[in-house]
Amino acid sequence: MLYNEPSPLETRILTKRFGLPNSASIETYLANGGYKSFEKTLGMTQEAIIQEVKDSNLRGRGGAGFPTGMKWGFVPRQSAKPKYIVVNADESEPGTCKDRVLIENDPHMLIEGILIAAQAVGSKAGYIYVRGEYRYLIDILDKAIGEAYAKNYLGKNILGRGVEFELYTHTGAGAYECGEESALLESLEGKRGQPRIRPPFPAVAGLYQCPTVLNNVETFCAAPSIIEMGGKAWADLGIPKAGGTKLTCITGHVNKPGVYELPLGYPVEKMINEVGGGMRGGKKMKAFIPGGSSCPVLTGDEAWPLTMDYDSMAKAGSMLGSGGVVIMDETTDMVKAALRIMHFYAHESCGWCIPCREGTAWLKKLLTRLDHGVGTARDIDLVGDLADNMLGRTFCPLGDAAALPTQSIVRKFRHEFEAKIAKTQISMAGVENPLVVVG
Ligand SMILES: Cc1cc2nc3c(=O)[nH]c(=O)nc-3n(C[C@H](O)[C@H](O)[C@H](O)COP(=O)(O)O)c2cc1C
Repeated sequence: MLYNEPSPLETRILTKRFGLPNSASIETYLANGGYKSFEKTLGMTQEAIIQEVKDSNLRGRGGAGFPTGMKWGFVPRQSAKPKYIVVNADESEPGTCKDRVLIENDPHMLIEGILIAAQAVGSKAGYIYVRGEYRYLIDILDKAIGEAYAKNYLGKNILGRGVEFELYTHTGAGAYECGEESALLESLEGKRGQPRIRPPFPAVAGLYQCPTVLNNVETFCAAPSIIEMGGKAWADLGIPKAGGTKLTCITGHVNKPGVYELPLGYPVEKMINEVGGGMRGGKKMKAFIPGGSSCPVLTGDEAWPLTMDYDSMAKAGSMLGSGGVVIMDETTDMVKAALRIMHFYAHESCGWCIPCREGTAWLKKLLTRLDHGVGTARDIDLVGDLADNMLGRTFCPLGDAAALPTQSIVRKFRHEFEAKIAKTQISMAGVENPLVVVG
């Protein structure tokens, strides 16, 4: 199912089969070049597969942007332990909605990507960890996995080539924290979804303490086209330090929100005005989140001249993240936006470490107070101080994910917080203790 009309401005590599009749079926997949890349890897060495992925400059699409070829190369292939492939389909980052589109429209592309990774590291089993709210995707995946078994792309002695691979789906219970790789592994092992201390990283000690390749759905989905086109050609679709295309979720105040496949390095201005159909109602862009709610927020003026890639966003003080672009126009109340974001993180903090558990709850209270206009200038500073103190002091980056957007909103839109306080101070004149109003 397509959520939006494709744009002629897209570079459709991962999305090339979207919109074909029965695009999720193995017949459509096979009729359109499917599983050919996996068959090609059956004749390649592990080193050669990993080298193609390195040449492609593919960086993980789950948010951190770690080079995928390097990650696959870290797996100790000589280890006597079983090696696992784990797919992160937890997709809970607000603003991000691309993995579900990939799975719905082309689940066999994901399965083929998993098989290629398995060939690269010598793995015989894999798991797709699917976010609890995406229950319907499990049915799509299980059907596709059944088809792949029936055609002997999965199972024992695959295609008579002496290769074996078993693939399973696993559903989470709807926790954002379980998208964090080490918490995901804990959850997959049947334990409470809380992060592990690292190192060791999953490549060395992942699922059941065995070497594990853990990647995002989109990252695995890129593998078949990398092998088909060759790593270098795939890299050339993007820019020098960021190869290929990226599924970009354009959300918020634009005329044509949707999921679009764009080459890395795409200009923000063109993305909004042409692909996204321009700002809704011709309004001005006030704020821009490049890659999901955990990225620092940019002002509209900061964002317009940038390009959608890792370095450009980092230089501007933000991150490309997972491709969940959130566009906010001049009517947006930034205090409410900060509160809405913090409501999410306070709800989703797993509670394992104190700066995150207490910090997010405290920030939510302060932001609620400020939103109700009964905070003080000191509260604004306190929000900034609290966020500063959370940064880098939690087991996993959920604490950072909560602190970064908050810091940036307070820093860049402080006048909106002050205006709320001033407005209520005028209307509250004569009320003895305005804090009582919000309890
Ligand atoms: C709180 C939190 C939530 C995360 N959620 C996801 C997620 O839903 N999907 C995802 O692929 N990565 C998520 N990540 C990033 C993963 O930890 C990990 O970096 C990623 O799955 C690695 O795959 P990649 O290299 O292909 O990006 C999350 C990280 C954190 C800290």
